[in-house]
Amino acid sequence: MRNILITGGAGFIGSHVVRLFVKRYPEYRIVNLDKLTYAGNLANLADVEDCPNYTFVRADICDFEAVCDIFRRYDIDGVIHLAAESHVDRSIKDPFTFARTNVLGTLSLLQAARTCWQESGYEGKRFHHVSTDEVYGALGFGDALFNETTRYEPHSPYSASKASSDHFVRAFHDTYGLPVVVTNCSNNYGPCQFPEKLIPLFINNIRLGRPLPVYGRGENVRDWLYVEDHAQAIDAVFHRGRTGETYNIGGFCELSNIELVKMLVKTVDRLVGNPEGRSESLIRFVADRAGHDLRYAIDASKIRDELGWQPSLGFSEGLERTVRWYLDNEEWTERVTSGEYERYYKQMYGQR
Ligand code: NAD
Ligand code: DAU
Repeated sequence: MRNILITGGAGFIGSHVVRLFVKRYPEYRIVNLDKLTYAGNLANLADVEDCPNYTFVRADICDFEAVCDIFRRYDIDGVIHLAAESHVDRSIKDPFTFARTNVLGTLSLLQAARTCWQESGYEGKRFHHVSTDEVYGALGFGDALFNETTRYEPHSPYSASKASSDHFVRAFHDTYGLPVVVTNCSNNYGPCQFPEKLIPLFINNIRLGRPLPVYGRGENVRDWLYVEDHAQAIDAVFHRGRTGETYNIGGFCELSNIELVKMLVKTVDRLVGNPEGRSESLIRFVADRAGHDLRYAIDASKIRDELGWQPSLGFSEGLERTVRWYLDNEEWTERVTSGEYERYYKQMYGQR
């Protein structure tokens, strides 16, 4: 029996990780700790909420006493930490919230793990911190891919906050011997991603005939990975990664934003029965994001060579799956964008 605390499990990636662990490991108790911010949505987990090995606890990772209480109440011996403020554009408008949750929240979890695990010893314990490739900064077009030894050079308040959290995690390993692993992953896409991020935002806008605001000239490059492949990678590192190590996770799938948007337009038009290319006229080149990183690309050979993980899904197949999911689940998007969800959870759980 293991008691695993997954933070941010009601969010996009967290919900896929919770589902994988609840289903694959019936002998584990999975405790999902989530504050249910605008990005947290328990509907993402409707299919596992009644499973006997699943428990949801609403809490803020910054609340140290509440986190310690959860560690003790559930006798937590493993942590997979995903809770975060995750959207770069929001971090440009409101950096404080990002520092609070991503830096202080991570510190609060680390300190809780250290305090609660010290009594019984670190044997059999693991703290897995889920982070991003954005901590490495930006690549030029001809540069070699990011690997685990690439120097940190974050540019946005979001990536600065994630970089800081990564440093705290490693500091707890080096100073107190906390058994940590860190993963830094590239851009995820798939079902249940909040429609502020490029792919779900544009699927929704195409569906509604709204403009598609491409920042700058659309030449920025991202490395795309289907979210279920990320969840599989987390499983591999959580169980088999070497303590104290970092593993980069990526899709080996670099696309410029404009290439991606054109593929997306074609896929949506085909699946809704529009004439080919009709929605391309919705593309608008708009003012660039401040500090917009030109290119991210991950060298994921360490996790492949050491743990045998590699992406299982090609991009066109993953994109088609994703578009189909959003078209089949329009109500999901409408609820999270209309504020109905917000009101519903305020009623259920009180003010946020
Ligand atoms: P998300 O925004 O969809 O979900 C974040 C979740 O964290 C939500 O459920 C939210 O309610 C919860 N949360 C936020 N603040 C909290 C707090 N103070 N206490 C408790 N819960 C809180 O994010 P995501 O895209 O699923 O990303 C999850 C993690 O993976 C983040 O740490 C992110 O930095 C990292 N990551 C994301 C990507 C990506 O492409 N989305 C890529 C690499 C790494
Ligand atoms: O690289 C991993 C990161 O990927 C994660 O750590 C972040 O949590 C996640 O949000 C994502 O960050 P990005 O900034 O790359 O994702 P986003 O979907 O916001 O943007 C993808 C690219 O598309 C980026 O170059 C900006 C551009 N873009 C985005 C939006 C929302 C546009 O051109 N127009 C838009 O409206």
